[in-house]
Amino acid sequence: MESCQSKWAMLTSYDAMTAGIFESAGIPVLLVGDSAGNNFFGHANTLPVTVDEMVSLTSAVVRGTSQPLIVADLPFGSYEVSAEQALATGIRFIKEAQAQAVKLEGGVRVVEQIKTLVKSGIPVMGHLGMTPQSVNAIGGFKVQGRSNPDSILADALALQEAGCFAVVLELVPAELAEKITQALRIPTIGIGAGINCDAQVLVWTDLMGLTEKPPRFAKAYLNLREDMTNAVAKWKSDVESGTFPTEKETFH
Ligand code: KIV
Repeated sequence: MESCQSKWAMLTSYDAMTAGIFESAGIPVLLVGDSAGNNFFGHANTLPVTVDEMVSLTSAVVRGTSQPLIVADLPFGSYEVSAEQALATGIRFIKEAQAQAVKLEGGVRVVEQIKTLVKSGIPVMGHLGMTPQSVNAIGGFKVQGRSNPDSILADALALQEAGCFAVVLELVPAELAEKITQALRIPTIGIGAGINCDAQVLVWTDLMGLTEKPPRFAKAYLNLREDMTNAVAKWKSDVESGTFPTEKETFH
C-alpha cells in the first residue's frame, strides 16, 4: 500500500549550508524562525532578535536553496505597532532577503496587519498557542488553550479570514489542535500540538540533538551534540600529539 503524502514537514533553518541539506532531504518549507534568537545568537529567548539579523539569516537560507518555500519570521517589535509597520517590515523580507512569505504571532489583535500584508502580495503564515514573543505575558513556555479553547479556535478562524495561507499551532492540546484543523480550510502546522495537524514543524537543532535542553515535544533523530564534541576533542588531541595534519593534508 502506498503511503499517504498529504502530511508535510516544515523545518527551521538559519544558514545556507544546512538549508541546502534540508532541501536535499526533500523538506518543502523552511522557516527562518526567530528561534534563531536562542539557537543562533545565544539569547535566552526570541525577543532581542532584530529585523536586520533576520533579513541576513533569511538571505543566507534563500541563497542556499532553490526549491523550498522560504518563510521568514517577523521579529518582536517589527509589526505590532500598526499595519503600516508590518507592511514596511514585510517588504524588507521580500525585497532584501527574497523570502516568499512571512510569519507573525497572534490572533485577532494582528488581523489588520495580516490583511495589509496579504493585500500587498505578501503571503502570511499565522502562529497561535504558545507564542514565544509573548513569553513574558504568558509567564513561561506553557501549554495554551486548556482553559480557553474557544478563544484559540476563534483566533484561528480570524487568521484564515484575514488571508493567512497556514497557521502554526504551538503547544496546544492535541484535541484542540485537531478541532482547529477540522474547522479550517488552510493547513495547520503543529509543534507540540499532537498528530492530527496537517503538517509538523521542528526546530532543526532539536531534531539533530544539538540543543542542550530540548523541549518534550521535540524528537532528536541524531545525537549531533555528542558527535560534534567527540570530533572536536579528537581533532584537538591529534593537533596536540602531532598526528594532524598527515601527508594527505600536506602540500609539497
Ligand atoms: O521561531 C521558530 O522557530 C518558530 C517555530 C517554533 C514554529 O516559530
